[in-house]
Amino acid sequence: MLDWNRHTRTADAVRPMHTEQPGGIMRFSSCTDTFTLANGTAIPCIGYGTFETPADEARVAVREALEAGYRHIDTAAVYGNQEAVGAGIRDSGLPREQLFVTSKLWNTERGYDKTLKACDKTLNELGIEYLDLYLIHWPANRKQFGDRAQELKAETWRAFEELYKSGRVKAIGLSNFLPHHIEPLARTAAIMPMVDQLEVHPGWPQTSAVRYCQDHGIQVEAWGPFGHKDVLENPTLASIGAKYGESSAQVCVRWALQHDVLPLPKSVHEDRMKSNIDVFDFELSDDDMRVIDGLRGIGGSCADPDAVDF
Ligand SMILES: NC(=O)c1ccc[n+]([C@@H]2O[C@H](COP(=O)([O-])OP(=O)(O)OC[C@H]3O[C@@H](n4cnc5c(N)ncnc54)[C@H](OP(=O)(O)O)[C@@H]3O)[C@@H](O)[C@H]2O)c1
Repeated sequence: MLDWNRHTRTADAVRPMHTEQPGGIMRFSSCTDTFTLANGTAIPCIGYGTFETPADEARVAVREALEAGYRHIDTAAVYGNQEAVGAGIRDSGLPREQLFVTSKLWNTERGYDKTLKACDKTLNELGIEYLDLYLIHWPANRKQFGDRAQELKAETWRAFEELYKSGRVKAIGLSNFLPHHIEPLARTAAIMPMVDQLEVHPGWPQTSAVRYCQDHGIQVEAWGPFGHKDVLENPTLASIGAKYGESSAQVCVRWALQHDVLPLPKSVHEDRMKSNIDVFDFELSDDDMRVIDGLRGIGGSCADPDAVDF
């Protein structure tokens, strides 16, 4: 049995651990140890990503990830693999309550009624009764929606609150929302977002958005923790990793955790799935954290949510 409460972080643990609570990060000793969301929900500190995992590979990949030790799976309606992800979860034989499953509302389904229907569809595709976390995938932006963008975000969030109150979703949050998207949403929200899933990796630390979230009790998750693989080519990361006998990928995962950011590494290869969570036997020094913090322009999409047209 997993012990969700072991090593659970307290609400004050929202500061960069590597500087303000030396050694504190070592309270995490496995990817099943948990951060605690603002509503008390325990969330395993590393999630398994499934973006671009084709439906015909996702079933096996998810089962193998769960066998490797992951207990937190990140998917989305737009990935087109939710049925396979659900099948992989069932194949693992693990009890539902030992798993943490996240999905996201796609951009075409925004609005109160459409959101409720989209969540039902996601639950049906995954073959589960509830989601542990549901996220608005991208903020409706002014570029596409003009003055209606804010209203659309607010209506969508009202449906999220309804889903949360009904128990079909155990925690609710955002993805790709920057502080200037969160602030107006918070003015009309009855329930504050518990998570913001942002693109965060060496070279694209999104420091001000991460700090804003951490100051407001919003857990940051890092999508694309390897910058969609590009970042792994960076020689500075490789040389820092070599000092600890770790790969660049392990350095990326560890760097996120030491910033209290929850990484979501994706790999369809079993050896990489395993090594990407084998990050609890070393700690990056403050100096190495600062060097990594200073990297810029080394890969990833670095997408601007106000500029995207999807
Ligand atoms: N909210 C959003 O808008 C959003 C956007 C994008 C992603 N996400 C989530 O975040 C997750 C991660 O992001 P991502 O999939 O874009 O990219 P990522 O995790 O940064 O990188 C994945 C790439 O790195 C490779 N890789 C993984 N581990 C490796 C290792 N140890 N050594 C060498 N290469 C390795 C993978 O290849 P193999 O698979 O071949 O090993 C794949 O090509 C997604 O899967 C998804 O769940 C969310």
